[in-house]
Amino acid sequence: MHRYVGSNLMEAGSDTTAVYLQSFISLITAFPDVQERAQKEIDEVIGTSRSPSFADWDSLPYLQAIVKEIHRFRPLAPQLIPHSTTADEHIGQYILPKGSMIFVNIWGINHDPEAFDHPEEFNPERFLHSDLGAREGADCTGRRNDMVFGSGRRLCPGMEFANNSIKINTINMLWAFNFHLAKDATGQPIPIDLNDTTDGILLTQKPFRCVIEPRSPRHAEIIRDNYAAARERLMNFENELSESERTNEQLVRSGHLQASHVERPVSSSSKLNNYVGHTVNVHYGEHVVQRYVADALESLMKGKTFVLQERDTVGNTLSEQNVPADDFAEMIVRV
Ligand code: HEM
Repeated sequence: MHRYVGSNLMEAGSDTTAVYLQSFISLITAFPDVQERAQKEIDEVIGTSRSPSFADWDSLPYLQAIVKEIHRFRPLAPQLIPHSTTADEHIGQYILPKGSMIFVNIWGINHDPEAFDHPEEFNPERFLHSDLGAREGADCTGRRNDMVFGSGRRLCPGMEFANNSIKINTINMLWAFNFHLAKDATGQPIPIDLNDTTDGILLTQKPFRCVIEPRSPRHAEIIRDNYAAARERLMNFENELSESERTNEQLVRSGHLQASHVERPVSSSSKLNNYVGHTVNVHYGEHVVQRYVADALESLMKGKTFVLQERDTVGNTLSEQNVPADDFAEMIVRV
C-alpha cells in the first residue's frame, strides 16, 4: 500500500512537472520578447545580489501571467483524465447513462474564441488585463485558471505541490539563463515547431534544440555558490552515484579536494553549450574525481584559450591559469 501510494505520487508528480518545464522552455525560447520582458521584471525585483525565492513571486505579475498562459495555451492533459459515471446523470436536457466515459475538453475550453482574443496566440499579456485572461464581456461562468488540474470534486491532489514547483523553477530559470534558438551549420536559427508534440494523455513537446546559457558571470557565480551551500543536503538524495562520483564527493566533503572547474573560454563569443559531450578527467592521486564534458570542443575551440580555475568548496578561486584548448583534452590536474 505504501509502495503504491509512493509510486503513484512519484509517477503523477514527475512527468507532469517535467512536461510543464518542457513547454516552458520551448515557449520561452520561441518567444524572445516574452523572455526579455520577464527578465526585465525579474531584474527590477531581484537583481544580481542573490537568487530568487518564493517570497518574490507576488511581486512578479508578468511571470504569473506567463505561467497562466502556458497552462491555457498548452494544457498538460488536453482531455484531462477520463472519468465514468457511477449512476445515470441528468445534465440539462441530456442523460448520461451509468458507465459513460467522460472527457473534459480542456483544450477546447482554453482555445474558445468566444472567451479569448486570438486564442491560438501565445500572449501572457492577456492575463494582465483579466485574471482569467478572457476577452472583454466574455461569459466566464465556471471558468478557473487551475482547470488544468481537473474539474469536479476529484482534482489533482498534487496541485499545491506542483504550483510551488512550477513557480520556483520558472522564476529561477528566467533569472539564471538566457534561452536561444540553436543554429544550424550555416548559422541559421533552427525554429521550434510548437505543434510537434507526442500523442497520449499528456501533451509533450517532442525533443527540440535550443541554447541555454547563464545570463552573466555573476549569475553563474551565484548558482555555483548555491550549489556549494546545498551540497550537504543534496548528498542525502544521491544514492545512485557511480564509484568515482562518490569518491569525488567524499573527498570534497572531507576537505581533501578543492573541486577544479573548467570555467569558461576567454573568447566571450563561446557558449557554455560548446562543452557538451567532451570528457576531461581530473585526477586526485589514484582517483579520477571529476569529469567535464564537451562535444564540439576540439573543432570549435582550436586555437583558443581557456581559463582553468581551481576553486574551494564554496567557490572561492584558489588559482587560475590560461590553458590552450589544444592541450585541454590531455590535461590532468593534480590538487
Ligand atoms: C503541472 C503539474 C500537474 C498537472 C497539470 C496535474 C494534473 C492532474 C490532473 C488533470 C489529474 C486528474 C484529476 C482527475 O481525476 O480529474 C491529476 C491527478 C493526479 N495528480 Fe496531478 N498534476 C500535476 C502535478 C502533480 C504532482 C506534482 C503530483 C504529486 C506530487 C500529482 C499527483 C497526482 C495524483 C496522485 C493524481 C491521481 C489522483 C486520483 O486518482 O484521484 N500531480 N493531476
